[in-house]
Amino acid sequence: MISTNKKNYEITLKAITKDSKVNSVVVLESGASTLVSEDKTIYYCLDSKIDMRGLANLISSIIVSAKYDLNIDIDSFLEILENKEEAFQIIVEQILFVTHKPFEMKSEESKQKSFNLLFDSKYQAIYDSSEIKLEFVNFARDLQDLPPNVGTSVEIAKRIKEKAEKIDGIKVTIMGRKEADKLGMGSFLSVNDGSYVEGQIVVLEYCSDESLMKTAYVGKGITFDSGGYNLKPSSSMVGMKFDMSGCAIVSSTVMALAKAKAKANVVSVGMLTDNRIGGHATLTESIVKTMNGQTIEIGNTDAEGRLVLVDGMTYAIRKLNAQRLVTVATLTGAMIFSLGRWFTGTFTNNEDFLNEFNEAAKKANEPVWNLPLIKEHLKVMQSSKIADLSNTGNIREAGSSTAAAFLNAFSEEKPYIHLDIALTADSDGRGLAPMTRTLFELLNK
Ligand code: BES
Ligand code: ZN
Ligand code: ZN
Repeated sequence: MISTNKKNYEITLKAITKDSKVNSVVVLESGASTLVSEDKTIYYCLDSKIDMRGLANLISSIIVSAKYDLNIDIDSFLEILENKEEAFQIIVEQILFVTHKPFEMKSEESKQKSFNLLFDSKYQAIYDSSEIKLEFVNFARDLQDLPPNVGTSVEIAKRIKEKAEKIDGIKVTIMGRKEADKLGMGSFLSVNDGSYVEGQIVVLEYCSDESLMKTAYVGKGITFDSGGYNLKPSSSMVGMKFDMSGCAIVSSTVMALAKAKAKANVVSVGMLTDNRIGGHATLTESIVKTMNGQTIEIGNTDAEGRLVLVDGMTYAIRKLNAQRLVTVATLTGAMIFSLGRWFTGTFTNNEDFLNEFNEAAKKANEPVWNLPLIKEHLKVMQSSKIADLSNTGNIREAGSSTAAAFLNAFSEEKPYIHLDIALTADSDGRGLAPMTRTLFELLNK
């Protein structure tokens, strides 16, 4: 539980520096904390040169290791740190992230500590904005954490709809197989063919200013990726419930923008289905037709993310008139070799759009790194003898870039950024909802 500037707990955590004049029992070494019971204070000796990532990690460890409910004197941290507004935002957002009670289905509920945050009223506006952002980051994380038997496409669509309907100014549209079929989304539907759960397309629209360029966020929403007939080995199937993270992230971001009453023109398109085997599941070497009329030879049913995304992109462009696009997807395992868990990979066809995006990522303090996307990558994906495209290509090299090139073949020359969150979406069995804050900052004007 978090409160601000009102209810006081017994003990207050205060930051000091090595040079602070305090009770002589206090350890004045960076990183040391001392409880002085007569002051009812824990003194934390802060290194004034700590960088922003270090600060976020420090706040996490303070919260996780707290033995009692605490007041946290944020002003005492800011007195020591240089970039005060940025530091305030990082501290608050980290607290709101770490104290979120994670989804669980245990018979006994785990107990959580409470914190009261003390800060100057001049930071209230930043706090309010961070609180909204984190409400939706945490909503996305809760969707990510759902086990696949609970978090089916129908259930996730329902939860997003319920949440979105409570916010002013959002139009919610949910489409199923019938609508997808009518739209000619043969690529999306081919992934859903093996499932007993109907695929769902969740569209959220928020526009507070028609004069703004419309941005579409399209998210991969594979509620479980077994690989399909190109079945994954057991060890690779671990964590595949998180394959819907893109959908959770894009939907949550639009909700956050609406709740913050941002001056924005944005839509999210979440492409939900599981990817499994069964009598009706799509066979490898099948050829499907996308909503924009291109044909795809399915070289591997496990490269399903791109198959659902491309129909979502076409829908965003042709039906919603999106003028620029971002896709968010746990798309390729190859990210483990390029960026690991340290960065989300970006791919783009437009440097200006990327520069704007990078500014937003910096503001949100989320690590991103750009990877190449060139014509040669597309050539690899055009290697099918029978169809316009293959969903795997004829070589394995640069798998994340060739996947991005495949997606870019559906951007219809609109400014486009693809985010591969395969390695950043989750950690230690928990969803992290990466890029929600960045995508919020990108459009929060
Ligand atoms: N969902 C996976 C990508 C993934 C792998 C995400 C590991 C998170 C962790 C995706 O659908 C997939 O299976 N991609 C294949 C593509 C290949 C068949 C061309 C991959 O990366 O191996
Ligand atoms: Zn797959
Ligand atoms: Zn997948």
